[in-house]
Amino acid sequence: MGDARESLHWNAEAIWEAVAPGLPGFSVEILPEVDSTNSELMRRARGGRCEPGLLVAERQTAGRGRMGRDWQSDTSGRTGSLTFSLGMVLEPQSWSGLSLVAGLSVAQALHPELRLKWPNDLWWRDRKLGGILIETASFGPLRYVVVGVGINIAPVHPPGLATPAAALQELRPDVDAPQALGAVVPPLVAALQEFAVHGFGVYQAAFSQRDALSGREVFTSDGTAGVARGVDATGALLVHTAAGVIHVSSAEVSVRPAPAGTSLL
Ligand code: BTN
Repeated sequence: MGDARESLHWNAEAIWEAVAPGLPGFSVEILPEVDSTNSELMRRARGGRCEPGLLVAERQTAGRGRMGRDWQSDTSGRTGSLTFSLGMVLEPQSWSGLSLVAGLSVAQALHPELRLKWPNDLWWRDRKLGGILIETASFGPLRYVVVGVGINIAPVHPPGLATPAAALQELRPDVDAPQALGAVVPPLVAALQEFAVHGFGVYQAAFSQRDALSGREVFTSDGTAGVARGVDATGALLVHTAAGVIHVSSAEVSVRPAPAGTSLL
């Protein structure tokens, strides 16, 4: 049996043709292996390389997730997962809600049933299908933003995970990693550019339609318990608690059964 990598076809040219006219200087690079596509673009940015570009890795050896966690994905290099980062200079009036816009764009590009677990986890039927890690580097007066996206493509059942992660091929058996990349990147670039001009407000309604937490009991890492009621115009999560409505902009949020005796609004 041949190596599955031989049959991979990353249609870098089609992505470049779709994106470059609206983003001069844009490049597409596919690497067989890197520690982390986010780390690589951030290293380049710190070295003064801030041209817009897409970096895809068939295999990450040290993928990173939000809140300092690892991002475990298919390490065989056979693209059971899609891992890429998009880097570009953005000059929005406010950065609030950027991560929600990125998640929304990816979800919209992939499937109508995908939901967003605030701020930007991609969920399908309450299982995580993908995640997004956003980092920025200052570049003189400008900021270079790196949007890293990890999507499970083929179902896997890693030992130790009580609930197996969701995978795109459960919804779209015909779609492989290169096809998912081609579907996701051009609208993601457009969404980031649109965000830079108009901010999060224009995405608030669309986010609500895919909000996986709406009406559910949630707990935040800073100790708040309540019911999630959508997001405000800055993208902050609204949590109704016994003490009133709290606007959560940076905590980690989990959904789990309330401990006995906890009263939720
Ligand atoms: C999360 O859910 O915690 C975010 C996961 C983000 C993973 C992607 S994979 C491509 C890019 N490179 C990384 O090291 N992380 C992001």
